Amino acid sequence: MAMRVLVCRLSDVVDDELRAFPVRGVTWPVIVTRIDGKLVAVPGVCPHEDVALADGDLHGTVITCPGHSYEFDLRTGKCTHDPTLSLRRYPVTVVADEVWVDLL
Ligand code: FES
Repeated sequence: MAMRVLVCRLSDVVDDELRAFPVRGVTWPVIVTRIDGKLVAVPGVCPHEDVALADGDLHGTVITCPGHSYEFDLRTGKCTHDPTLSLRRYPVTVVADEVWVDLL
């Protein structure tokens, strides 16, 4: 069963910018941004090691982790350095101005 949580408001999301939103009861914040006009939500932690991805850089559709500079494409979640790693993309539902994310 999905765990749907309210993460932020549409007005909080900035195109092509990494913004991480804390979620009560969840260790790491959720990053929500808009890529190519579509909302994208991913964990705020790198799947390689526990490093905050919101502190990384976003160029186009690619996040570069500040830990070891691995890159993740937000369109797919795939890591360009290590095919065994991927960044989970959470399903997003917008209700009025609210951005809800299915964490599980
Ligand atoms: S912690 Fe992100 S690449 Fe190593």
